[in-house]
Formats: sequence, C-alpha cells, structure tokens
Amino acid sequence: MKITVIGAGYVGLVTAVCLAELNNNVLCVERPSFDLSKLEKGISHFYEPELDELLAKNIKGNRIEFTVDLDKAIDFSDVIFICVGTPQSDTGKADLSQVENIARQIAKRLNSYKLIIEKSTVPVNTHQWVKKTIKRYAHSDLDFDVASNPEFLREGSAVSDFMKPDRIVVGVESDRAKRVFKEIYSPFIEEGYPVLITTPAASELIKHAANSFLALKISYINMVAELCEKANVDINMVADGIGYDKRVGRAFLNAGIGYGGSCFPKDVKAFINIAEEHGVDFTLLKEVERVNSKKRIDFVKKVEEVLWINKDKNIAVWGLSFKPNTDDIREAPSLDIIRELSNKGANLRLYDPQAITNFKSVFPENNRVKFFKNKYDAIKNADALLILTEWDEFKKADLDKMETLMNLPIIIDGRNLYKSNKMEKFEYYNVGRGKINELEVLK
Ligand code: UGA
Repeated sequence: MKITVIGAGYVGLVTAVCLAELNNNVLCVERPSFDLSKLEKGISHFYEPELDELLAKNIKGNRIEFTVDLDKAIDFSDVIFICVGTPQSDTGKADLSQVENIARQIAKRLNSYKLIIEKSTVPVNTHQWVKKTIKRYAHSDLDFDVASNPEFLREGSAVSDFMKPDRIVVGVESDRAKRVFKEIYSPFIEEGYPVLITTPAASELIKHAANSFLALKISYINMVAELCEKANVDINMVADGIGYDKRVGRAFLNAGIGYGGSCFPKDVKAFINIAEEHGVDFTLLKEVERVNSKKRIDFVKKVEEVLWINKDKNIAVWGLSFKPNTDDIREAPSLDIIRELSNKGANLRLYDPQAITNFKSVFPENNRVKFFKNKYDAIKNADALLILTEWDEFKKADLDKMETLMNLPIIIDGRNLYKSNKMEKFEYYNVGRGKINELEVLK
C-alpha cells in the first residue's frame, strides 16, 4: 500500500518507518526548512532504540522516502497520516494550527478519494473541524474520510510498542475507511492483536483519557509513597501488593520524582482544558498536576535536609532525560531540580548517557554547571549523588568504585534504583521506601 506520513517528528518518523517495515511504500514529508540529509542516510534526528536500524533497512529496500514537498506527498497516496505537532498554547489548550494548515493543503490537492488519518494527539471532535476545513477549501465535492488512529508509543520503546501493540484504536465513520484500516493493520489482525473500531470522537478521547489515567496512577503512587516514608513502610512492597490485583496492575506504579516528557504534562493539561470547554471541572486531574509538581519541590527539600547547606557543595547528578532510553529532556524533572540547586549556589556535575547535548542547549556549561562524558568522572569528589532517571547503567554501577570516588558517600535516589542490603557503605535516601524490604511470594 502507498502511504503518506506528514511530519517526521517522534510520532511521524516511528510511524513511517514501522509502516515501511510492514511492506508499505511510505513517503514521509517534513517542512521545507528541515534538513533531510541525515534521515536519508538512515540516521534519525533523535535517539530511539531500534529506529535507525529499521530506517536504514527500509531505505535500502526502497520502502521509505523523504521529501519537503508537501504537494508531492499529498498526491503520492490516498492514505495520509497526519503526525504534526499539537503543542501546548499559553492557556494549556492544544495549538491545532499545524493540523488546520495540513487540512487546507490536502483540500487543495484533493482529486480522488482520500483517507485522512489523525495520529497526532488532538482534542475530542477535532475530526469535525478537519472535515469542515477540507470541505471549505476543496475545489470540488470529492469523497474523503477523516479518521482517528492515536498512537500509544512510549519514547525509548516506540518501535516495539508499534510492532507489538496492546491494542490499536481506530475511529471511523464509513465502511470504506474501515476497509482501508483493515488492510493497513492486517499483519496485526492476523497475529491476534486487538484492533478496536470506534467512532472518531471516542478514539480522540481515548488517547487523552489513557495518558491522563496513567499520569493519575503515577501521582497516586507518589502520594502513597509520601505516606510510606512517614510510616516507615516500603512503597515498592505496597505497589507490588496492590499491583497483583489485576484490576489495578503493577505498571506505572513506580514511585519517584514524577512524570515529565512531551506527552503527560501536555495531555493532562489539554484534557483539563477540553473538559472545561465542555462544562466539566476535572478537579481530579488538577490534583494530579499539583502532586506531580510537588514531587520535584519535595526532592529539592530532601537534598537540603540531607546536605543542610547546598551552597558550594559538589552535587553530582545522574540522569537528565525525562525517562531512560531517550535523549528527550522536555518537561524533565531534572530541569526544575537542577535549576533550583543551581540557584542555591551548588556546584553541579551532570551526567546522562544520551541527553547531555539537549540539556546543554537549555543549561549551558558555566563555572557552577559542568557536564561529564562518564558517570564515574561526574561523581569524583562529590558531596552527594542525585539520581533523577532510571537508566539501566546506573542500576548496574559499581558501588565500591562509587564509594571510593565520592567525597562523601551520600546518594539521594529519586528513582529507587538500589536494594538496601547493598547500600551499607552509603548514606542512602530514596522515595518512600522507608525500611527497604522485598515482597516474598511463597512457593
Ligand atoms: C506516554 C505514554 O506512556 C504512551 O502510551 C503515549 O503514546 C505517549 O505518552 C504519547 O502520548 O505520545 P512517554 O511520555 O514516552 O509515553 O513515557 P512513559 O513511559 O509513559 O513515561 C512518562 C513519565 O512517567 C516519565 O517521566 C516516567 O519516568 C514517569 N513514570 C512512568 C513514573 O514516574 N512512574 C512510572 O511508574 C511510570
């Protein structure tokens, strides 16, 4: 099948590459100012495991191409995935100007049936506006469908999330559109993955409701962690204990310094806004946001409680990205925490396996903020180490070596990486683990 993907950002590029891997001929279009040279060589412009290998393979197999010519891309196929940005505006509302612009451009080139698919995260009933816009700007009365097919990809595991989905959600209004989706997703249907057919409005809403619910789970467990810390109970045991209930599930119950990234913060805000526009006061989600911001403040307070004075202390930080396996620092807890500590006059020694370049562009190196290429160099002579992202390499770090390198063996772990029985040599602080314990399951 020939497929056009508009946007080579996170969602667009992963979608385009994976659709090519499923044996489609994909043309992916970016804006004219975008430099395609790296992509054309099979190198993506952000770090995502597995993506570059698959990109290079499909370029070689002539199944994917890139262009900056939007008209050419629209003419290329009858199936168009819209994967442009829907950033947050000042009010928290999603800015849909890029979606609207694409709808107008498609309208101008409409000369036969096309299926136009929203993959970008959009407020409920955006499809109505896309339809209306295309009708208004089209030269003739041609048949087309607008459908919704949100993505549920996590950064760091986006390729496997696409290839092994929990479910695929498709919102359509016609049998014709449904048939096209059946063809696109036939490899998944054959393998038994659930492909859920619903209305476009329900599909749009599912996306915001899903992300907001996951954010809610995180804020919930972080509040329980706060209680655990006071009551000297291990939050991990509690999370396991409730997670065994299939109705709850253990996923997204890892306590820490809260959620970041380009999705949860933006989507929770947008969902509150959408609800408000429909006369619904979603106070529950406002509390989710409040708790999430508070976790960052609480962590800085904890650093102060442990170190007393932050000024002139050498504080090493491991982990800058908002989560492991990505170089993305958007809305990362590290941004607020490092800004705060830097304002307090601490000397910061920063390390991340992938995110240093992105972090430097927001936080340039100065006499108080230094970046290191190696995690052990970052902790040399440190008065404390803060762990802000749960990268695997931190879990496997050599604790003996760490202890000898540091000035004081103090670790303040925002992601609960270590087991207590290995930490005797350290003054070790975590989030809500009180007296650390392991849940035992009798066999
Ligand atoms: C999220 C969703 O998980 C995807 O399903 C969705 O497609 C995507 O947003 C999107 O809308 O595009 P992502 O933002 O990549 O994916 O990352 P997550 O793995 O969901 O993590 C989000 C944040 O929550 C991270 O900062 C992570 O550290 C934090 N988190 C996650 C916790 O603090 N505790 C947990 O138990 C899980």
